[in-house]
Amino acid sequence: MSEPLLVLDDISRRYGAIEALKGISFSIGRGEVVALLGDNGAGKSTLVKIIAGGLEPTSGRMLFEGREFLAKTPAEAKAAGIETVYQDLSLCTNVDVVANFFMGREITRKVLGVPVLDETAMERVAGKALADAGTRIPSLRTKVEHLSGGQRQAIELNRFVHWGGKLVLLDEPFAALGVEQTRRGLAMIRQVAKQGIGVVIITHIMQQAFQVADRIVVIRQGVVAGDVPTSETSPDAVIGMITGETLAVPDRQRQGQTIRPAERERTT
Ligand SMILES: Nc1ncnc2c1ncn2[C@@H]1O[C@H](COP(=O)(O)OP(=O)(O)O)[C@@H](O)[C@H]1O
Ligand SMILES: [Mg+2]
Repeated sequence: MSEPLLVLDDISRRYGAIEALKGISFSIGRGEVVALLGDNGAGKSTLVKIIAGGLEPTSGRMLFEGREFLAKTPAEAKAAGIETVYQDLSLCTNVDVVANFFMGREITRKVLGVPVLDETAMERVAGKALADAGTRIPSLRTKVEHLSGGQRQAIELNRFVHWGGKLVLLDEPFAALGVEQTRRGLAMIRQVAKQGIGVVIITHIMQQAFQVADRIVVIRQGVVAGDVPTSETSPDAVIGMITGETLAVPDRQRQGQTIRPAERERTT
């Protein structure tokens, strides 16, 4: 097996007295879609924030492309190719699609020695990137505020891929989308993964996890309660992991987790 894209090694995080994460270890491969599941408060968002540089772990380490890496800020994570894609939080709604696609990376040309934005070139590049990904947007000169949630998400994902993104994190990406937009979003995730990008998707909808993910990782009360290939498990089995009836993690990940869930229940 080739070297994983990201390795989480014994990541813990406290919020004061609350131990939100208690030694999380698992890895994400290149081109792999991992669905992160778990009950409310299990620690999913905390983990994703740590990966994306939005929060520091209390302890533990991360290896990204084989090197120790922990981003101190989201900008640092983004520069390394790790990014959280939100439905629209990171788009500027009052400017058009092209401006959003190039945000901070504008193409300029010199006119009488003065750099000016090369709108034609930018429109061409953005148009090609979106078209190649199968994203249909009527006009690239439409302000983002006039686009649907699904179109915004597509722009963000395409932008991420175009600028060399390597690992994308999605926290309940379809919560506000309709059935058809969700279907397209799931298809786009598969397409993104096909290009070698790692994807972590948090979802509470079991069906979505089984539709899109190669592997399912279940977090329960801050520990990994399941880490299984999607093809080797079932929705019922995953529910068992979420509720604590079963534990399905490879042996190498069990350190500190040798107490069976039922016993842990009684001791906490
Ligand atoms: N900023 C915070 N301050 C204090 N406690 C927090 C904070 N964020 C999350 N928590 C707690 O950490 C635990 C994990 O939360 P979270 O990562 O949001 O879980 P999930 O995303 O799986 O619902 C919960 O007990 C939650 O109440
Ligand atoms: Mg959450």
